[in-house]
Amino acid sequence: MPDARAFSLDLTGLEPFLDLGGIEARNDLARAIGAELARREGPGADFLGWLDLPRTAFGPDLVRLLDAAETARGDCDVVVVIGIGGSYLGAEAVLSALADRASGPEILFAGTHLCAAGLRRLLRRIEGRDVRLCVISKSGTTLEPAVSFRLFRAALRERYGRDGERRRITAITDASRGALRALADAEGWDTYVIPDDVGGRFSVLTPVGLWPLAVAGLDVRRLLEGAADMAATCENPVLSANPAHLYAVARHLLYGAGYTTEVLSTFHSDLGPLQEWWKQLFGESEGKHGRGIFPASCRFTTDLHSLGQYLQDGRRELFETFLTVRETDPALVVPASTDGGDGLGYLEGRSLDDINAQAFAGTRAAHREGGLPTLSLELAKLDERSLGGLLFFFEKAVAVSGRLLGVNPFDQPGVEAYKREMFRLLGKPA
Ligand code: PA5
Repeated sequence: MPDARAFSLDLTGLEPFLDLGGIEARNDLARAIGAELARREGPGADFLGWLDLPRTAFGPDLVRLLDAAETARGDCDVVVVIGIGGSYLGAEAVLSALADRASGPEILFAGTHLCAAGLRRLLRRIEGRDVRLCVISKSGTTLEPAVSFRLFRAALRERYGRDGERRRITAITDASRGALRALADAEGWDTYVIPDDVGGRFSVLTPVGLWPLAVAGLDVRRLLEGAADMAATCENPVLSANPAHLYAVARHLLYGAGYTTEVLSTFHSDLGPLQEWWKQLFGESEGKHGRGIFPASCRFTTDLHSLGQYLQDGRRELFETFLTVRETDPALVVPASTDGGDGLGYLEGRSLDDINAQAFAGTRAAHREGGLPTLSLELAKLDERSLGGLLFFFEKAVAVSGRLLGVNPFDQPGVEAYKREMFRLLGKPA
């Protein structure tokens, strides 16, 4: 079980906007949804493999993956991970959050758009450096990563020849379907499988997330252990003791009360990509059939100088979930000044993190005053274990939340619409 001090969810900021008794009254409903998920039943039951990953990811394939990652760490300066959506957001989220613990080759992400300027810049960044590619696509047919992969593969072939290219490509894809699988088998690349029953946005604990993170020197076993601890906690049938269910129920009641946008706010500058992962997880899982909370994010204090006005004073359809980290760095303090002309004398000797903590407390109080219900998630510190727990917490919460909303949280039929139009305009053969 995770240490209760390692992760906490505080609902006190929901009052006076929501009757907290209403949460308790959903105890049986949440319990029934939890039991349905545990029986692997209900809408999208074929895509519940992520529930088992904290346990099943430990196997011979993990050993092979860790060996391969060790080799990659020793033979390149830069790894280009090519994937979009769930095929890169989780790895980028953990990598950014744990940047200070990472080592080894630089990890770049490509295949996330179709913009020439950005791709050209990325191609320039690998010039003259020893490079590896890791191409990730569950379907194996997604346009953005496929186009980027062509470009980077051509650069790899030119540099290392056919044989060198073969040794420097890792493909992570479906076990048997898709163009990428066929290519990988034909070329003999090192491959890892994304299980059939795990959708892209739930795949961070498969090789999709584990391979890049292991190459970056992060301890993926600890990540999985953290997820396993959280999975055990989030099986608790008692709502008040089950943080994922509590978060799901609170959001659902807020939605019912007209709060249709959730802003995930953080005061930690390394958590931006985690917010992006969260937005995909909740947006793609819930936004269907004209329903769903719109997931937005803010990075403070930066965004207090752009969106702060709206949060404080705009339409009252928002609620805010703060994601904070308790561990602080006491060493970076405001230095003494010889002239004091900047008016910061009252802050001399105070740590940046202490000042930031006061900014958080002040912002939370002000937003509440302005009419925003708030929830607070706190991690005691940022490490592999806490991140694994947090990722699983959100996955479990969105599964429950989607079912409370009456949608299948594991499909994404709406994503096909832009593809149909784009492929028609591009003249893709049927
Ligand atoms: O959650 C999802 O399934 C999607 O966001 C996918 O991850 C994304 O579209 C990329 O798909 P693929 O991995 O098939 O290239």
